[in-house]
Amino acid sequence: MADAEVGDDVFHDDPTVRRLEEETAAELGKEASLFVPSGCMGNEIAVAIQTKRGDALLLHKDSHLVLTEAAAITELLGRKYHRVDGDRGRMRPEDVSSELAASLATSGTIAMVEVENTINWGSGSIYPLPQLEAIGKAAHARGLPVHLDGARLWNASAATGIAPATYAAVADTVMVCYSKGLGAPIGSAIAGTKAAVQEARLARKMFGGGMRQVGVVAAAALHGLKHHRDRLPEDHRRARRLAEAIASTPGLRLDPGEIESNIVIAEIEEPHDRVQAFVAAVESEGVRMNAFGGPGRFRAVTHLDIDDAGIDRAIAAIRLAAASVLQAKR
Ligand SMILES: Cc1ncc(COP(=O)(O)O)c(C=O)c1O
Repeated sequence: MADAEVGDDVFHDDPTVRRLEEETAAELGKEASLFVPSGCMGNEIAVAIQTKRGDALLLHKDSHLVLTEAAAITELLGRKYHRVDGDRGRMRPEDVSSELAASLATSGTIAMVEVENTINWGSGSIYPLPQLEAIGKAAHARGLPVHLDGARLWNASAATGIAPATYAAVADTVMVCYSKGLGAPIGSAIAGTKAAVQEARLARKMFGGGMRQVGVVAAAALHGLKHHRDRLPEDHRRARRLAEAIASTPGLRLDPGEIESNIVIAEIEEPHDRVQAFVAAVESEGVRMNAFGGPGRFRAVTHLDIDDAGIDRAIAAIRLAAASVLQAKR
């Protein structure tokens, strides 16, 4: 980062950012990409450039765009949601098709389909490629664009061996993050056609996301892209180990078979309102998790700062907290 060659990226004149954008576009099989400060901004730009005020987005009810970005989508952009259910964040193509047909026959306001992969609220669940492709086909058959929230697309790819570009081919625009499993401190990108990325550049300026000598940060993202993708399976292996330990801890519930990548969401036995005390007890042992994913549920994420010894510590802290907070009050 200290050695990064920099320029003014608002004039698209920062060589390190340009390199990152070119390499990211190539990885995703898209014509171009645009560096943005955050995953949220990348998703919101994708919505801004492909829909208009009053339009609806068809997406899973538990998607990041719904659960975390609603204020931006509805209040700043004036779009609405058309929410669909499905197993751990994954919509069924037949539901997407029938909802689109019904919308066209009535209000006709659905203007875009959005999918997430891997799925945060789905405990890092991954869309089977044929399912994703069928959703893409259903949208495109009706002339609607598809946006892929690929904050952790690198993890999906590492888990399945399917290239990021193969997943990205389903979508018109893709957002990816460098700041999650890849370990960069800041940064995401939105990729698509050259024309879409040119519009995204204007939208980024409107959102206040144009940054000047940002090659300093892009250098870290480039490092992550080059050096930290091969190690993602380690995070997945550790997440599975953690999940198995949680599943065998009295007072906690989880099916370890559901853990496909680096996110572990589990549930405490009722009463669910003890989850905050449970998470606080785990934190008092130096291990951070958050209450997340629904009543009584909590989330742990593995990443490049967590080694095997860290997982041992986490397991010990979780077992201690479960025994003191959950068992004691039975
Ligand atoms: C699926 C998904 N999309 C988007 C984001 C937003 O990324 P950021 O925190 O960089 O805005 C997140 C963040 O956790 C996420 O999990």
